[in-house]
Amino acid sequence: MGGKILRLGVLISGRGTNLQSIIDHCEQKKIPAEVVVVISDKKVAYGLERAKKHGIEALFIDPKAFPGKESFEKAMGDELEKRNVDLICLAGFMRILSPYFVNRFRGRIINIHPALLPSFPGLHGQGQAVNHGVKISGCTVHFVDEGVDSGPIIIQAAVPVFDDDDEDTLAARILKCEHKIYPMAIKLIAEGRIKVEGRKVIIKDAAKKEWAVFNPPLEID
Ligand code: GAR
Repeated sequence: MGGKILRLGVLISGRGTNLQSIIDHCEQKKIPAEVVVVISDKKVAYGLERAKKHGIEALFIDPKAFPGKESFEKAMGDELEKRNVDLICLAGFMRILSPYFVNRFRGRIINIHPALLPSFPGLHGQGQAVNHGVKISGCTVHFVDEGVDSGPIIIQAAVPVFDDDDEDTLAARILKCEHKIYPMAIKLIAEGRIKVEGRKVIIKDAAKKEWAVFNPPLEID
């Protein structure tokens, strides 16, 4: 990848604010990428409306219309392939992908998670952080492997957790960071600057001083 306009397929299940941030960054030419299709596993998902408003193809694929997970994922995969998608971005897609799908698009699926992985994977990353009493949480963009939120980490951003936070207030603080780092990770991939070595993601030619650009320092709102 690199040197061309990366074709993105975005998978969503809901409101799609991360999708919106990706679309905006693409339209403003801040990243050399374009969203070519948005797929939702939920019929009512505001993200689908967001896509349509920007003239982007928006598909609802109903998991219940298929006999099993793999056939549902095959249908999704076929739609993505039909449109020559280079990179699949999970943006609030609330399903765990099976090894079949991960294998079919190995190294070409990324996800955003609302916690500093490997802490608090799975659902309600923000609530888990509040309940655990951590003082710092954040978000992570990572490659998707067969596990749950376990693939190689591309970028992380940290936010404070205050004593009076609940799941919602922390989620709102984290979300602001998500909207910044997801497009940043896509940009690095589109520019061909990412190399995966085992568990580690190496950003090519990154001067040490760039570290804070890719992993923005603690943001206190
Ligand atoms: C985001 O906070 C995202 O990190 C989270 O769902 C929200 C989707 O918001 N994803 C997960 O928890 C995945 N396990 P959005 O639809 O407004 O982008």
